[in-house]
Amino acid sequence: MGETQLARAAALAELRAEFPVLAQNVNGAPLGYLDNAATTQMPLAVMEAMQRFDRHDRANIHRGVHTLSQRATDRFEEARETLKHFVGAGADHELVFTSGTTDALNMLAHGLSTAGIGDATIKPGDEIIVSELEHHANLVPWQQAARRSGAQLRILRPDAQGRLQEDELARLLGPRTRVFALTACANATGERPPYEAMLARAAAAGALTVLDAAQAVSHETLDVAALACDFMAFSGHKMYGPMGMGALVGRRAALERLEPLRYGGDMVEWVSRTDASFAALPMRLEGGTPNVSGAVGMAAAASFIEGIGRERIDAHVTALRAQAAAGLAAMRGVTLMSPEAHRSAIVSFVTDGVHPHDVGTLLDARGIAVRTGLHCAHPLLEYLGFGPTTRASFAVYNTHDEVERLLAGVTHALEVLR
Ligand code: ALA
Repeated sequence: MGETQLARAAALAELRAEFPVLAQNVNGAPLGYLDNAATTQMPLAVMEAMQRFDRHDRANIHRGVHTLSQRATDRFEEARETLKHFVGAGADHELVFTSGTTDALNMLAHGLSTAGIGDATIKPGDEIIVSELEHHANLVPWQQAARRSGAQLRILRPDAQGRLQEDELARLLGPRTRVFALTACANATGERPPYEAMLARAAAAGALTVLDAAQAVSHETLDVAALACDFMAFSGHKMYGPMGMGALVGRRAALERLEPLRYGGDMVEWVSRTDASFAALPMRLEGGTPNVSGAVGMAAAASFIEGIGRERIDAHVTALRAQAAAGLAAMRGVTLMSPEAHRSAIVSFVTDGVHPHDVGTLLDARGIAVRTGLHCAHPLLEYLGFGPTTRASFAVYNTHDEVERLLAGVTHALEVLR
């Protein structure tokens, strides 16, 4: 090892020590946690921030004159500001806390297709365009929105390699396009579409634009104010933060169009026996007691990421992906999804004649955690002509040695199972 490599290895060992869960053996081997697209692990700094809140400041927010309630409200609103800054939200943006990306996208699809405060934004005869790369969370809510409103759902298909083409989007866009929803990185294949240009094209055609940033936010700098993006959703647990926590960021004027999904406490201005008026954003969309320690943890996770720098994290996970992709591509009978995906932390592959669940089970026997199956993206894998896949996904704490162990494990699995 050269000196730079040694220094890098030492820095990585120090970083890994921040993640207690990584320091364990699974089935007699050191854990190689490569299921980060499903959930990343949490560093001590995030756990401690949440614990600090729960030990010292825990109380319900917004409705109390007592000191703890006021402190809790301050922590919650500080977390909102930290996260707004993290995604580059501008003065005309607002961030609504949700329980995750799925919750955010449901809130959005429901809010745009339901009449209430005003008319529904999505009307009969309108069109909603969703890409074929989407996780079910950015597809099913739009199917239901189309059904509810009498709009038509149109699917932006990828090419045979699973790549989205701008020209194809241009062909679908028209005067009736009301919404265009797109992922920043496909969870099932690792494909990273040119979302910047695609959102811009859709916005120029007059559509409201939606970015599912769940798989990108932990390593890509997402500057929502610089993107032609009306709404962006992301989750805490995919960015080194807590589970059950997420956010919907949007242009204020676009968020104003949403009919709330949850009516109740904290989201009203006044209530009579027969009617109610609603609070201003963001509270209007945050009915009920929120997960305050989750918000504190998610903000701590954003600070953790910024402390390292997203460029460095991006370079690291991209290099791990490239190493895994090169090794897998060289194996007989292995087909990679999106072999040329760039800026992706996900590698997904099929193994001729061998079921991914068997590959995953044999990898687990060697302490390597990967995900196998259809990854909540059934239409995409079917369209590409594949069934279930094996998926490895990388985070800041993963090592090149773990990728070597993955490759050795897949080679072994193929030998045993064929
Ligand atoms: N959306 C998560 C995944 O892709 C659960 O695994």
